[in-house]
Amino acid sequence: MKILILHGPNLNLLGTREPQVYGSTTLDEVNQKMMDLGKALGAEVSCFQSNSEGALIDALHEARTWADGAVFNAGGYTHTSVALRDAISAIEIPVIEVHLSNVDAREEFRQRSLISAVCKGKVGGFGWRSYELGLRGLVDIIKGR
Ligand code: DQA
Repeated sequence: MKILILHGPNLNLLGTREPQVYGSTTLDEVNQKMMDLGKALGAEVSCFQSNSEGALIDALHEARTWADGAVFNAGGYTHTSVALRDAISAIEIPVIEVHLSNVDAREEFRQRSLISAVCKGKVGGFGWRSYELGLRGLVDIIKGR
């Protein structure tokens, strides 16, 4: 089983970016935790981050050819990107939407997600553990449990 962990804009700054909102764990640490967890769950995890919408779309298109599913934090594009929504919808592998923060408890503009409706599930508010919960759920879905 192969899984893509995909991070959108500004998530390269994790650890130093608004730690009171997003925590002090760095992106490299999140990725290491997900690769370790993947190994324990019998999944090969690959991680990619981009600040560019087009590169994220390309990563989703490529995932269609090699991945069984994806865990995706689209960052600010969650609230704005029809193109990312269309990419998720097009690739027909299960995608789990994740957020470190609880977006529903924040500003109104964060309470609208353009991607939720085309994702298999959604996790938010658990800091880096949102990725862990998302990965565990995705692996179970793929295994048909
Ligand atoms: C985020 C929430 C988004 O609203 C924000 O733009 C981000 C991070 C989160 O993980 O909590 O960049 O996706």
